[in-house]
Amino acid sequence: MSKVCINIAWPYSNGPIHLGHVAGSLLPPDIFSRYNRLIGNEVLMVGGSDQHGTPITVSAEKNGMTPEAYADKFHEINKKAIEDLGIEYTLYNKTHCPTHFEVTQDIFLRLRDNGYIYTKQTDQYYCPKCAKFLPDRYVEGICPNCGAEKTRSDQCDSCGTTFETGDLKQPYCTLCGTTPEIRPTEHFFLKLSAFRDQLQDYISSKDYIRPNVKAFTKNWLDEGLHDRAITRDMSWGVPIPLEGWDGKVIYVWFDAVIGYLSASVEYSRMIGKPDYWKEFWQDPEVRHYYFIGKDNIPFHSIIWPAILMGVGGMDLYYDIPANEYLMIGGGKLSKSRGGAIDVPSVLQEYDADLIRYYLSAIMPDTHDSEFSWEDFATKVNTELVAALGNYYHRCLSFTKKNFGCVPKADPALTAEVMAEIEKAVAEYSECVSKCDFKKGIKAIMELAHYGNRFFDAQQPWALVKSDKDRCGAVMSANLTVVKALSIMSWAYMPRSSERIWGYLGCPGTIEEAGLKAATQPVAEGQALGEPVPVYKKVEIKVEAEKKEEPKKAEPQAQQPAGPFADFRRIDVRVGEVVSVEDHPEAEKLYVLKIDLGEGEPRQIVTNLKSHYPYDQMMGRKLLVISNLKPAKFRGVRSEGMLMAADDEALGGDKVLLLKPSCDVPNGTQVNCGMEVSSSRIEVKHFEKVTIKVARVKDGKFLGKDIELPEGAPERVAAVIDGDEVVVFGDGKGCVMTVESDITDGADVA
Ligand code: MF3
Ligand code: ZN
Repeated sequence: MSKVCINIAWPYSNGPIHLGHVAGSLLPPDIFSRYNRLIGNEVLMVGGSDQHGTPITVSAEKNGMTPEAYADKFHEINKKAIEDLGIEYTLYNKTHCPTHFEVTQDIFLRLRDNGYIYTKQTDQYYCPKCAKFLPDRYVEGICPNCGAEKTRSDQCDSCGTTFETGDLKQPYCTLCGTTPEIRPTEHFFLKLSAFRDQLQDYISSKDYIRPNVKAFTKNWLDEGLHDRAITRDMSWGVPIPLEGWDGKVIYVWFDAVIGYLSASVEYSRMIGKPDYWKEFWQDPEVRHYYFIGKDNIPFHSIIWPAILMGVGGMDLYYDIPANEYLMIGGGKLSKSRGGAIDVPSVLQEYDADLIRYYLSAIMPDTHDSEFSWEDFATKVNTELVAALGNYYHRCLSFTKKNFGCVPKADPALTAEVMAEIEKAVAEYSECVSKCDFKKGIKAIMELAHYGNRFFDAQQPWALVKSDKDRCGAVMSANLTVVKALSIMSWAYMPRSSERIWGYLGCPGTIEEAGLKAATQPVAEGQALGEPVPVYKKVEIKVEAEKKEEPKKAEPQAQQPAGPFADFRRIDVRVGEVVSVEDHPEAEKLYVLKIDLGEGEPRQIVTNLKSHYPYDQMMGRKLLVISNLKPAKFRGVRSEGMLMAADDEALGGDKVLLLKPSCDVPNGTQVNCGMEVSSSRIEVKHFEKVTIKVARVKDGKFLGKDIELPEGAPERVAAVIDGDEVVVFGDGKGCVMTVESDITDGADVA
C-alpha cells in the first residue's frame, strides 16, 4: 500500500461550476482517487474554493454583496454540486479560512527568511477617475500576443501569455471604462529566477509528463523566468504578515496554490492528528498529482514547485495531468450560454453517473473536445444504456427470475470469461494508473460488449428449458463478468455501480472488496436482489431541424465582404412580443409569438424565462435575428433568436434583452444602415459577430472611438470588427440599448 496525494485545482467561488470544470479538473481526479482506493492505496484528496483576488471582488461588487458573503455563497453551492456529482474529496476547503491564512503567512515568512522574497517599486495601473490602483481583472484590453479582446491584465485566457503592467494594448478600467495611468507602488516579489535550473532539471527528469505541460513549462523557462509580484493593492485577501503594509494583500495565485498544503493541514487538525499532513508532504515516496486545466499549467509546474523548493523539505509534483478545454459550438464552454451547463442545473435534469460517463468518454485530455447535448444523448443511449446497462439488466433479471440466487458454476465456463476479465482489468489498470481515463472507460465498455456476445452465444433463454444446470453455469459466468464490470466502473460511475453490487448480493462495499475481487468468481448461492435498470435512455434536448430544410437549389446569395461582413449576414429586426406561453415539455423555456411586421407573428423559443417573468416579456419591444434557419427545441419550432447582453464571461450574472432606444415600427431593420445579405444563416455564423454593450464616455466605447446620434442613451450596443466600432442601430438615430445596468463589455448573443 502506498500513499497518494491528489490535488485538484480550486475553482473560483464567483459562480456555479460548469461542465468545463468537471471534465477538465474535477472528474479526472475522482476517477483516479477511486482507482487508487480500489487497489488499496491511501489517498489524500484536497482542494476547495478559491475565494480571493479580483475574480471575487469584481463579481461581488456587481452583485452588491461583500466579497466574503459572495464567495461563501458559491462555496456552499459548489461544494454541494461536487458532492452531488459523487466527487469525494478528503476535504473540500476554502481559502478564506484561518488555517489557510496561517499556512500562507507562514510560507511567506519562511521564503522571506530564506531570501526568496524581496520588495521592489513597480508599475501598476491606476484609474484617475476611480482614484485607485487596478490589479488584474480591473483592467482589460487586447492581448499583445494573440490579439484576443477583453483580455485581463494578468493573463490571456486564449493563448496563456502572462503580462506585466503596460503589456496590454488599449487598456481600460473595467469599473468605469477610463484608460488607466501607470503609477509606481511597492510590492513583494518572489525570486523565481533563482529556481530556473532546478525547475528545468526536475521536469526533464520525468518522461511521462504530458506534452502540453512540458511545452508550456519550457516556454516559460526559456523566456528566462522573471521574478513576480506576489502582493496586490487591494484589501480582500490574505494579509501580509508584516507591519506597515495596510491596503495590500497577498496575490490570489500565491495564496491559492498554498491551499493544497493548508487544506491538508486543516484536515489533519479536523481528525485530531495535527501532523498527518507530513506523512503526505514530507515523504519523498508519496506521489503528488495535480489535476488542472491547461490555463493553470505554469502555476503548478513553476510557481508552486518554486515555492516548495524555497521552503525546502517538501514533496514536489509527480505528475500534472492537465487537460485541454471542453468546447461548445466551437467556443470555450465557460463562455457560452447555449443551454444550461452549470452543474446545479444539469443535475436537476440528469443523473450524475450519466454526466460522468459522457464526460469520461469525451474527456479533453490530449486535445480540446466538443460537448453537445445531442452527442450526450447519443453516447448515453447507444453505448451506456445499450451495452453496459442492458448487459447488467438482462443478466441480473434473468438469473433472479429463474434461480433467485447465484447458480452453481462450471469451472470451464468461468475460466473462459475469466480470461477476458483479466485482459480487461490489465488494460484498465494500465490506462487509469497513467491517467488515461478515456481509454480506461473503453476497456470497461469492451468487456460489456464481450459479455453481451457471450450471453447471446450461450442462449440461456433456450437452455433454461433444455438444460437448467448448464443454464445456471452460463449465468454464473455472466454474473462474474457483471461483478468485474461493477468494480471497474465504480471509479467512473460510483452510484450505479454500487447498486449493481447490491443486486448481486455481494457483501460489504466495492471499495472494501477492491479491484482484486474483479478477477474472483461470484460466490455460489449468494441471494440476488430485485434489479431495476440503472441507466435510462435520455431524450435529446435540442434537435436541429433537419427534415424541413431540404437542400433546395436556393440561389446562393452573394456573401458580403469587407468590414462588418459577418455582421451583414445577420438580418436584425425590431419585434414586439404578442404572446407568451410556457413550453409544453421544458420548464425553463418560453414559446413566444413576435410581431415582426410580417402579418403572421413569428414563433420563437427562448431560454430567458428565468430572467423575464410573463408580465415583463409580454408586449416587450426587442430585437430578433430574423434569418436564422428554423430549429426545434424539445419538439417546438423556433424561427429566430432574441438578442441579449450577457456579462457572464466578465464574472457577472445578468442577461438583458436589447431594445430600441426609440419607438420604431415592428419589422424595422437595424443593421446600421448597411446592406444585408438576406440568405438564411446558422447560429455559428452569428457567433462570429462581436456585439457588446457598454457605457460611452468622452466619445469612447471600451476605449475605441465611436460616433453616436443626438440623444443616444448612456449605454449602447455596438458592433465591433477589428479596430472599427459602429453603434448598433438603424443608422437614422435609433440605437440599441438595455434597460438597466450591466458590466461594460458584456457580450451580445
Ligand atoms: N481559481 C483558479 C482558476 O479557476 C485555479 C486555482 S488552482 C490553484 O483558474 F492551484 F491555484 F489553487
Ligand atoms: Zn493572448
